[in-house]
Amino acid sequence: MLAADAAAVAILETCSPSPWTKNQLAALPDGPYRSRLCQDEAGLMLGWTCVLPVVDEAELLKIAVLPEKRRLGVGRALLTDAFRQAADGGARRLFLEVREKNLAARLLYRQTGFTEVGRRKGYYRSPPDDALLLEKILEGTYEQSAGHCPCGQAGAGAGRF
Ligand SMILES: CC(C)(COP(=O)(O)OP(=O)(O)OC[C@H]1O[C@@H](n2cnc3c(N)ncnc32)[C@H](O)[C@@H]1OP(=O)(O)O)[C@@H](O)C(=O)NCCC(=O)NCCS
Repeated sequence: MLAADAAAVAILETCSPSPWTKNQLAALPDGPYRSRLCQDEAGLMLGWTCVLPVVDEAELLKIAVLPEKRRLGVGRALLTDAFRQAADGGARRLFLEVREKNLAARLLYRQTGFTEVGRRKGYYRSPPDDALLLEKILEGTYEQSAGHCPCGQAGAGAGRF
């Protein structure tokens, strides 16, 4: 991730329920993670995802959208992109953990085909919450729905769309 991207992602993270620190973000390029950035045509960072491939599975570690750009389809577009990336990398299943009280995210996941497969009681702190474990079976192909995603094709360089 470029330094300018990392700075924009760090700002995005301050609006996330479980924000990653600058140190965690700085460590991303050295790890096995796959980050994807969604920008508009002016270069404004709208949202991002981070996926960890694990053999023939993948874990969605992060999805976040800029607060003033939510409910515009960016989250769904980022997820569709994550499905495609994970499937292209050989994953048959994408899984994630979500706070039980995070209704916006849970609705997005339900709408995109995730199902609940487990619960970790008291997993989160500040504020306390249970973690729900969700999975999505990856099959078929994943195309962005034309005209719905406000992301520009600002995609010079890996990791952008
Ligand atoms: C969860 C999040 C990524 C959704 O991003 P988004 O760009 O607003 O999502 P979309 O616009 O693509 O919404 C897709 C669907 O999700 C559901 N949804 C998203 N936000 C919602 C909300 N605030 N209330 C109710 N439903 C919501 C709706 O079903 C929506 O479809 P609709 O707009 O046609 O009704 C965003 O709210 C966010 O960044 N939250 C903070 C970070 C976070 O919680 N990440 C998840 C951690 S597990």
